[in-house]
Amino acid sequence: MTTSRPYVIASVAMSLDGRIDDDSWERLILSNADDFDRVDEVRASVDAILVGAETLRRDDPRLLVRSEQRRAARLAAGKTFSPVKVTVTRSGRIAPDAQFFTAGDVDKIVYASTEAAKRLTADLGATATVVDSGLTVLPWNLLADLGERGIERVMVEGGSWMHTMFLKRDLVDELHVAVAPFLVGQAGAPRFVQDAPFPQGPDRPFRLAETRAIGEVVFARYLRS
Ligand SMILES: NC(=O)c1ccc[n+]([C@@H]2O[C@H](COP(=O)([O-])OP(=O)(O)OC[C@H]3O[C@@H](n4cnc5c(N)ncnc54)[C@H](OP(=O)(O)O)[C@@H]3O)[C@@H](O)[C@H]2O)c1
Repeated sequence: MTTSRPYVIASVAMSLDGRIDDDSWERLILSNADDFDRVDEVRASVDAILVGAETLRRDDPRLLVRSEQRRAARLAAGKTFSPVKVTVTRSGRIAPDAQFFTAGDVDKIVYASTEAAKRLTADLGATATVVDSGLTVLPWNLLADLGERGIERVMVEGGSWMHTMFLKRDLVDELHVAVAPFLVGQAGAPRFVQDAPFPQGPDRPFRLAETRAIGEVVFARYLRS
């Protein structure tokens, strides 16, 4: 049996010691304006942007294409001005007034455990599509469902658990890493990934496709095949 799934781009900004935030509730900026613009360009090229529920709770991101030109180009191509937003939760602890839901007239999809899905469906009403995903969200089921909704390219923007979930199942086709020129040095700060038996070990590494200095940030783009 052949299966098709969306092409997956995982994108992260990290410190020199591999941290994607510090241990405070304030969001740590690990990029610069030009690098944010690079991320915006990638956002404009995909059909869906995915973040985990903890990132929604901590950072309250808008997850929208920022550039007016890129928004206009998407509209001219018959797309929505910004991609579909996607999140994943087991607990269902997501506030309906999060910017994920309130910012931007684009589709929002929440993949949730059965228990959380019932509550979220009631709380969110027509604001979002809630997909009952059983006990836990399985990444290949999520991608298959997105594929059935016409999503061909998805950008996974974090956090740590989301990147781990897709990487450990070898579901990341392209990895974008921006490295900030400093160390965080806090044990409680989240890392790029959790420990896991990753298939992209030394015997099956990613292929380095591009490196670029973006001001003081180093950008690297890796391909899986
Ligand atoms: N530097 C960067 O590029 C970047 C980008 C994004 C985020 N971040 C940082 O990353 C941190 C958050 O990362 P994180 O790893 O703690 O959280 P996360 O990956 O954003 O979200 C984790 C949450 O996703 C849900 N989840 C995970 N696996 C699931 C599964 N199989 N089924 C159902 N739900 C599942 C759970 O939500 P529930 O708890 O609701 O069940 C879990 O708590 C924040 O500090 C944020 O600032 C950094």
